[in-house]
Amino acid sequence: MIIQWYPGHMTKAKREMEQAIKLVDLVIEIVDARVPESSRNPDIDKLAGNKARLILLNKADMSDPSVTKLWVEYFQKKGMEAVPLDSRNRGSMKAVRAALDRASEERRERNRRRGILNRPVRAMVAGIPNVGKSTFINSFAGKASAKTGNKPGVTKGTQWIRLDKNVELLDTPGILWPKFEDDNIGEKLALIGSVSEEVINKEELAMRGLSFLKDRYPGVISERYKVDENKDSELLLSDIAAARGCLQKGGETDTEKAARIILEEFRNGKICKISLEKPEENIC
Ligand code: G4P
Repeated sequence: MIIQWYPGHMTKAKREMEQAIKLVDLVIEIVDARVPESSRNPDIDKLAGNKARLILLNKADMSDPSVTKLWVEYFQKKGMEAVPLDSRNRGSMKAVRAALDRASEERRERNRRRGILNRPVRAMVAGIPNVGKSTFINSFAGKASAKTGNKPGVTKGTQWIRLDKNVELLDTPGILWPKFEDDNIGEKLALIGSVSEEVINKEELAMRGLSFLKDRYPGVISERYKVDENKDSELLLSDIAAARGCLQKGGETDTEKAARIILEEFRNGKICKISLEKPEENIC
């Protein structure tokens, strides 16, 4: 399945990121906990240069906890702070703040040595579209974020949200472009709902999702849809359509409707907590 992103968007996003990164000490990179590798941008390491890094494995409420734990260890081994979280939940922000402090400790120490005592660490949030950047900024900055914006009397241009005397956050997130060169990656991003619906063949994608689930999480499809999952994906899709009452006028199964239901349930965690990739392994 071939999925394209507009190269025009990519050039603009890249230019904006290059500018924004110059302004900060630390990059908070948000990835989707279900596909931490595929939802990363291939150029981020180069773009971030030697800035401190913090990886947030967002939407961890929908990922397989045992696999998410492996990812946290994976990033930590690479020398990055990593925190799994549900951005909609403000309670998780304490752990983020602690990780941010650890990630920026070196920077603060360098400032101290140079006699710079009152300079807050500046951070920005970056990630591919739909990964939860705005949700995170709202939860993390809370009321502080509402105070900024282009109100009269507030300088236009770059706006900083002051979290406290130690940390400032850029109020607009940096948009990274997904890496679609590999069709597997595009497919995984489509499965989690990060790709515009128009460019996707839903039935094909739902069948890929079904075959992945059968393989990785045996029993969950039978359980959820009350069907025998030990069939090829095309028959299985048709059985699920029948089980869910998705029928066309002549009584034939409406597999497109069933595909839409499956994809929706796959994406919002209703089928089960799903991780589509493990560290250093290409699952899909
Ligand atoms: P973006 O700025 O990176 O583009 O993403 P945004 O914050 O707009 O979030 C995209 C969608 O993901 C939103 O859902 C948001 O609620 C959801 N989301 C963000 N973080 C989490 C998380 O940790 N867990 C879960 N389960 N969902 C998360 P939406 O359907 O587009 O909007 P709505 O349902 O909030 O109205």
